[in-house]
Amino acid sequence: MELFNNGQHVCLAFRDLVTGGEAVQANQFLVFDHDHAALIDPGGELTYSRLFLAISDYMNVKNLDYVIASHQDPDIVASLNKWLVGTEAKVVVPELWERFIPHFTRPGKISNRLIAMPDQGMNLQLGSINLKALPAHFLHAEGNFQFYDPVSKILFSGDVGANLCPETELDEPAKKLSDLLPYMDGFHKRYMNSNKVCRFWANMVRQLDISMIVPQHGRAMVGKAIEQFIDYMENLDCGVDLFTQENYQIP
Ligand SMILES: [Fe+2]
Ligand SMILES: [Fe+2]
Repeated sequence: MELFNNGQHVCLAFRDLVTGGEAVQANQFLVFDHDHAALIDPGGELTYSRLFLAISDYMNVKNLDYVIASHQDPDIVASLNKWLVGTEAKVVVPELWERFIPHFTRPGKISNRLIAMPDQGMNLQLGSINLKALPAHFLHAEGNFQFYDPVSKILFSGDVGANLCPETELDEPAKKLSDLLPYMDGFHKRYMNSNKVCRFWANMVRQLDISMIVPQHGRAMVGKAIEQFIDYMENLDCGVDLFTQENYQIP
């Protein structure tokens, strides 16, 4: 699905490469700018071959600049070794997980192919743009990033905003948050770490001009849903906020 296209700059979402019901639905993203390209959150073993083929429709996949992993989960990075072997891309990962990622790869494969994102985030040069890696730590992973594209104004929000909606609705961005809440509330209450970090995140992203929030699972958000979702996060009690001694009893 094309999220944005002005001829020089294109954002694509791949939504249905994981099928069969056992694995969680996941989106993968490609950002092109002036013949340069970044793949965001490539996914697990299940997506590699089909994603490689799908990208081939648009470019010579060997020329990918970056394969970016927002955090260390299997639905994000399990295919990393295949991308290292199959392309010349640099692999971009949170600094916090830098020493864990080589466990997904063969010895020696990763040296001088790795860019570690420092905790405070960074600008990644891609063609004529700087793709912004924004800190999203503890939402949910301890070291975690989101990506903001200044041309399309899309925020690729990773697991923040994830909604496990019916597959028939995937291509339709939500205009109001109430359409997504039944599919996201339980996930955010458990997987997001605490209200404190949700508020820091809300304060940070309110400074951005956002046209669309696109999570790694489920539907995108546009229009009023963007502001409504940021308000939702700001007010969310979640993770350790909700845990008590009751949750720590010897079974
Ligand atoms: Fe995750
Ligand atoms: Fe995920």
